[in-house]
Amino acid sequence: MNRIFIVDDDIKILKSLEEILSKNGYTVESAKSPQEFLDKIQDVPPAAAIIDIFYGYNQMDGEELIQIIQDQFPGVQCIVMSGESDIQKTLSCLKHGALDFLEKPVSLPRLLTSVKNAVELYNTKSTVQARCKILGESRLIKNVIQRIKKLALLNESILIYGESGTGKELAAENLHLFSSRFSNTLFRVNCTALNSNIIESELFGHKKGSFSGADRDKKGYFELADKSSLFIDEIGDFNLNLQSKILRVLQEKKITRVGDAAEINLDTRYIFATHHNLEKMIEEKLFRQDLYFRLSTFTITMPPLRDRLEDIDILAPHFLDSFLKENNLRFKEFSESALDKLKQYQYPGNVRELIKIIKNAAYFCSGGMIAPEDIEFKAENETANIWELTRDMTLVESKNYFEKQLISKRLKIHSGNIEKTAESLGMLRTNLYRKFRQLSISKD
Ligand SMILES: Nc1ncnc2c1ncn2[C@@H]1O[C@H](COP(=O)(O)OP(=O)(O)OP(=O)(O)O)[C@@H](O)[C@H]1O
Ligand SMILES: [Mg+2]
Repeated sequence: MNRIFIVDDDIKILKSLEEILSKNGYTVESAKSPQEFLDKIQDVPPAAAIIDIFYGYNQMDGEELIQIIQDQFPGVQCIVMSGESDIQKTLSCLKHGALDFLEKPVSLPRLLTSVKNAVELYNTKSTVQARCKILGESRLIKNVIQRIKKLALLNESILIYGESGTGKELAAENLHLFSSRFSNTLFRVNCTALNSNIIESELFGHKKGSFSGADRDKKGYFELADKSSLFIDEIGDFNLNLQSKILRVLQEKKITRVGDAAEINLDTRYIFATHHNLEKMIEEKLFRQDLYFRLSTFTITMPPLRDRLEDIDILAPHFLDSFLKENNLRFKEFSESALDKLKQYQYPGNVRELIKIIKNAAYFCSGGMIAPEDIEFKAENETANIWELTRDMTLVESKNYFEKQLISKRLKIHSGNIEKTAESLGMLRTNLYRKFRQLSISKD
């Protein structure tokens, strides 16, 4: 991105800087006051802003503007302009995070060097930010991040497993971002969202006249993603016929459009995801074994949130902050006990459910501090999701799963006190210990 904003109340300066920078390949916009600038950048902030320090009486000055930018749009790089060589003010702007300063009248080479540096820094920063999007400090998530970085370097297809809301799509984005294909767009298809009549043509493209409605040649997702990555979500939902066609693409690295005979060679990297148990689907003859073997060479499993509840310390403030910023709401934070409460739930809907709970707590809590009472776990959700969670389990597996959840929850409620936990469950302590071993429940 090379979009630059100039903020100055001197129209002549605005015009001349705009002209110079546009001639040098930048996309330039301008504002005559800090307020106008803030109004204009709400939707898409620029890479850099060149900001004059002084404005008319009663107006926000450049130093205040820089503080607001640092707070609300931390990626934007600020360059300060000062006409009255007010060293004190300029230094103060630099202290508040401005990257550079220019003295008026602005020298052309200085201007160009400063803007070039600012844009480069912005781009590197935003790339790094995008690359680090999977949040969490738990051992489980750190291992996953490491695995993603390593597998990103391959051209092989990858299969991402994980329950709903665990971050499978996020993992796919990261696989692409860390790969050498990152400067091309990542394409995404979700079979469940595609119309089943045209799904084949959506994937493989078609030749003009190959069916009624095909009034021109069309590229499908496979072709669009050539030289880039294609994320195919919910592979378990594809029918057997499409599964065999996908297998052929993976094996031969070429496709033919619907209604065409010509073969098109492709250099596409495939990332698949599913929340189904594909091995079970093979037994039920719903998934092709040969495709499974091909897909399951390199896999990533996104861990459920309930197995890494400690990550909520990082995730919760992050999601709260983004929700408040996106909706221009005033600052709020979690009390320590609210954060503790968030860590005592099992999240059948995983991170997506956590986000939902946080948004509701943040919006409906009246003060600036979110208390435990503001956090509501939807009990009906949990019950409904039991079916989702146990969908691929046998009766014994489901029974063990439920017992494990129940005992762990009671243990937490009684702060790890074995006697009270056993009593509340109506069982002997010795039997409870046996369950701990049997179900691998940790007592701390
Ligand atoms: N570790 C994480 N750090 C930051 N955000 C996360 C993390 N895990 C998940 N999210 C966020 O949670 C939401 C759900 O993630 P995502 O859509 O990737 O899940 P999914 O596994 O694809 O879900 P589904 O199975 O329902 O399609 C997204 O907003 C995503 O950005
Ligand atoms: Mg998804």
